Amino acid sequence: MLDLLQLTGKQRQFVDLLQRQQSVASLRSLCAEAGFDFNFINGFLLSGALDGYVQWQEHTQQTWVLTAKGEDVNGVLPGFPLAERLLQGMGDGGAFPRGNRAALQAELGSGFSLNYGALRREQAVDLADGDGEGVVTVLRPSVLAAYQQRQAVFRAIAAGEPLDRGGTASLEWLQQQGYIASRVELDYGLTVLPALQALDLGEVVTTLTSELILSGQWRQVDLKPYDIRAEVPDVAYGRPTILTQCIQRIRDIFLNMGFDEMSGYLVESAFWNFDALFTPQDHPAREVQDTFYLANPQTLPLPSDRALVRGVRQVHEANYGGNWTEAEASRAILRAHTTTSTARRLHQLQGKDGKYFSIDRVFRNETVDRTHLAEFHQIEGVVVGELLSVRTLMGYLTYFYERLGFKDLKFKPTYNPYTEPSLEVFAYHPPSDRYIEVGNSGLFRQEMLAPLGCGEKATVAWGLGLERIAMLLYGVEKLSDLIGPDIQL
Ligand code: PHE
Repeated sequence: MLDLLQLTGKQRQFVDLLQRQQSVASLRSLCAEAGFDFNFINGFLLSGALDGYVQWQEHTQQTWVLTAKGEDVNGVLPGFPLAERLLQGMGDGGAFPRGNRAALQAELGSGFSLNYGALRREQAVDLADGDGEGVVTVLRPSVLAAYQQRQAVFRAIAAGEPLDRGGTASLEWLQQQGYIASRVELDYGLTVLPALQALDLGEVVTTLTSELILSGQWRQVDLKPYDIRAEVPDVAYGRPTILTQCIQRIRDIFLNMGFDEMSGYLVESAFWNFDALFTPQDHPAREVQDTFYLANPQTLPLPSDRALVRGVRQVHEANYGGNWTEAEASRAILRAHTTTSTARRLHQLQGKDGKYFSIDRVFRNETVDRTHLAEFHQIEGVVVGELLSVRTLMGYLTYFYERLGFKDLKFKPTYNPYTEPSLEVFAYHPPSDRYIEVGNSGLFRQEMLAPLGCGEKATVAWGLGLERIAMLLYGVEKLSDLIGPDIQL
């Protein structure tokens, strides 16, 4: 028994269509005409739901389709038009047929040589000199005629048109050459039984409205039952933010390159942020316009390693003059770069080799605009070893950015108090056809390394902007599209 309430909308429409027929010669054609998906209706038929309402007989028919090779040829020419053109050139009088090679080539494009090659192999054509130009000369018109027929059959198959009788030889040839393949198509003839005609499809209510409920009509109408197992669209639930996803991706890259992750402190002393990095105490970056100084605590203790503090004092006084003070170095700040973590790590290493990275938050007293925030993230990295050079540095950075898809980098000399040489890094950004600054890097100076206990070592190091990379990767132009409560990516 057909359960009308269980039918889907499409199935109801199909039953409705069938009620208006006695018999159906080809279910395939019926589907094509009425806009039903044959496979869907085929499944409906085979599900048994229509048993007792329709009878069907399976029949199959053979059709031809282009193979991949056939599709290739079809895309270029299509088919084998050269033979046809040459035959047309024979004219009424049956004069010796010839075709100007350049003209044929212009007309048939890259397909010319394909066609010519095939005809030449069967010694049907040759190339002769004439009027200073190559002339295609026909040797065996009968071969051309065969090609003309093959062309007609090929075209009909490509266009899905019915085939004329008598094309058997052409079909055989096209199949042998691998241009076409036969396909068996399943179809059904249907007989609609009286039981189907007698069915009352009626109206099925699919939406329960407040009117139906208030008026009490819901008691009378046929309601389509809910299918609690039906597939529903996925609901968007919580997931890592874009920035967190970027951090994870970058972390994986460095871990795969054999780096260990390091971390530091958001609240730092000026000592670790500036003094240990050979940055003079009157450097403009230390001013309140650039750096956030804390009111509470106002100061932090200097490192207990007195040799370190003494070493830093000495190198500052020797190079910048004699007024280095512990008071200035003790001031508490929000760290302005993650090179603080690097300085602390170098001091821990005391000359041991290693490769470290961090992806951490930093703070700068900047005017907030589309591309600047007062807090952002840096990707810090340092390699400690021997025989490290500018080439090593460029190699690490090139490898890293390549992993993210930035294949074209430029390096520009710059100045940092603690590195020499220092290089700014620019990455090519195809959508804007520009090189965009993505980081800063260099080899740490002896003046910085020696007090930290790594004076014998060479280092390469960098600090890269995370948000800049994320903006380039996701093609956004405002930081607010990436960070904050309302992200529409
Ligand atoms: N600390 C630098 C900055 O914030 C980046 C940097 C790190 C440069 C390490 C050189 C070496 O721009």
